[in-house]
Amino acid sequence: MDNLLTVPINDHLYYIGVNDRQTELFEAMWPLPDGVAYNSYLMTGEKNILLDLVKINTVSVFVEKLQEVLGDKPLDYIVVHHAEPDHSSAILNILDIYPDVKIVCNKKTVDFLKNYYDIEDNLIIVKDGETLELGNRKLTFYMTPMVHWPESMVSYEEETKTLFSQDIFGGFGTLDGGIFDDELRFDEYYLDETRRYFINIVGKYAKQALRSLNKLATTLDIKTICPVHGPVWRKNPQKIIDLYVSLASQEVQDGVVIIYGSMYGNTEKMAEAVARGVVHGGIKDVRVRDVSKTPFSYLLADAWKYKGVILGSCSYDNDLFPPMKFITEEFKHQKMKNNIWGIFGSYSWSGGAMKNLKAFAEDCKYEVLETQPEIKGAANNEDMEELMKLGEEMAKAILASKE
Ligand code: FEO
Repeated sequence: MDNLLTVPINDHLYYIGVNDRQTELFEAMWPLPDGVAYNSYLMTGEKNILLDLVKINTVSVFVEKLQEVLGDKPLDYIVVHHAEPDHSSAILNILDIYPDVKIVCNKKTVDFLKNYYDIEDNLIIVKDGETLELGNRKLTFYMTPMVHWPESMVSYEEETKTLFSQDIFGGFGTLDGGIFDDELRFDEYYLDETRRYFINIVGKYAKQALRSLNKLATTLDIKTICPVHGPVWRKNPQKIIDLYVSLASQEVQDGVVIIYGSMYGNTEKMAEAVARGVVHGGIKDVRVRDVSKTPFSYLLADAWKYKGVILGSCSYDNDLFPPMKFITEEFKHQKMKNNIWGIFGSYSWSGGAMKNLKAFAEDCKYEVLETQPEIKGAANNEDMEELMKLGEEMAKAILASKE
C-alpha cells in the first residue's frame, strides 16, 4: 500500500508534493476556489535528487514527506526547473537541512537564485540538450523559455521515459487523494481548472508554449509526465499534451461570452437582449458576465474558449467603466487571434464607452461586427431590436466561419 504521505511513481521515483488550500489568490491575482498542488519529486539511487520544490507556506509538510523517503540518507541534488517562488521559496529551508546539496539549473536561473535567495554556490549549470549523470540516474535537459519564465526548463529520464515538465501540463486544483490521471476524474473537474490555469498563467506566451510543446512532443518518447501542478500523467499522457496544444493554439468553441459593465442595470438589460439575439441566431453556448463581479481570471478563460466575445459598457467620466477598462487592458496582453468581437455602449450625457471600445478593437486589430449599438439612458424598443440584431449577427458570423 502507498505510504500515507508519499506516493511511489516507479521503483526509484516518489511523489512528495503538497496541497495548498490556504492561499486564496495564485500570484495574488487568480482565484483558487479549490486550491492548488505544488508537485515535487524525489528520485532515489546512488544519489538522491529532488526535482522541484514548493511554496514556503507549505514547507513543513514538504520536509516531512522528503524525510520520510530519504530517512537518514543525504540529499545530493536539487533540480530547479523553474525559479518562480511557488516552486523555489522552500529552498533555503532545504539548504539549512542539507547544506552540501548541489543545485542543478541553467545560466538564466543563476540570477533568480542570487536575487531571491542570495544563493551563488554549489551550482551545476546545464545547457539545452545536455545530459547529466547523477549517480546511476541520467537526466537530459531542454530549455522552454517563457513557459513560464525565461529560465524555465524541463528534464527527461530516458530509462523510464519520464518528463519533468515544470509548469507545462499543470493546472489549478489540489490533488485530493488521486495523484495520477487514472485515479481521478479529469474531465469533470480538472479540465476547467487546467484550462483556466493555462490561460491565466501561460496564455500570453502561447506562441512560445506551442514551440516548446512541439519540440518535446516530437523529440521525446513520453510515458509519464510529472508537472509541478495538477495530476501526474502515467496512463494517458497524450491527453494532456493534446489539451495543451489545443490551448496554446487557442482553438475556440462555437459559443459567445458577453461581458458587460453596468451601474444601475440598464446596460445589463442590453446584454440580456444581445444574448437572446445570439441564441435566436442559432448558438446555444452563451455566458453573460458582469465585469464588476466575475473575477477577470474567468473572463479571460471564457474569451480564450469562445469564438464570440461581446463587450458592453456604460460610460464613466467620459471614458469606459473602470472595470471594463481594466479587462480590455488584460485582453491586449493576451494577444488573442481567433475571436470575433462585438461591442455596444451606453451613456447618459457625453458618452465615452463606445469611443473607447472602438479604439481598443482598432488597437488590437480585431475583427468587429458591424452592428455597434450606442444607447442613451435605458434602451427603448428600437434599441432592444438593434441589440438583438448584434447577437444574431454574432451567431451568423460564428456559423459562417465554419463553412
Ligand atoms: Fe507554478 Fe510559473 O510557477
